[in-house]
Amino acid sequence: MSDYENAIIRSIPEPAELVSLAVRIRENAYVPYSNFHVGAALYADNGKIYTGCNVENASYGAAICAERTAIVKAITDGAKKILAIAVSSDSNSPTMPCGICRQVINEFCSSDMPLYLSNRNGEYKVFTFEEILPHSFKQSDMEDVK
Ligand code: THU
Repeated sequence: MSDYENAIIRSIPEPAELVSLAVRIRENAYVPYSNFHVGAALYADNGKIYTGCNVENASYGAAICAERTAIVKAITDGAKKILAIAVSSDSNSPTMPCGICRQVINEFCSSDMPLYLSNRNGEYKVFTFEEILPHSFKQSDMEDVK
């Protein structure tokens, strides 16, 4: 399952490939409280794909979303930038990242990065990051202080 996490892919994967990895990793979600499975797969600037699922906790606020699981794995492995991300959940509608995940994705992507937001069956809609988080707060906003 995780062989692809060690492989270096030279060009951005097909959207359908990232989506299918997000659909598959959803099976590993640890969701005894919500029973809502979410999977994410991202392609990073080191040429590797990283996946993540949501991991819940008896202390509900300690839950981590699928997108952030994948991002933390990528950054830990030395990636610096996310070039594309796919998300899938149990829903029949496209899976829209939560507000916290949008902010965390923002830290590591450009405004035109594509997101492939999929339903339970792998049918996806494409958005740019700017479309899902316009007027975002970022590091450069802290430099405009005088
Ligand atoms: N969840 C995600 O994994 N990603 C999102 O962007 C939305 C929410 C998870 C968190 C929790 O485990 C479950 O979905 C219900 O909120």
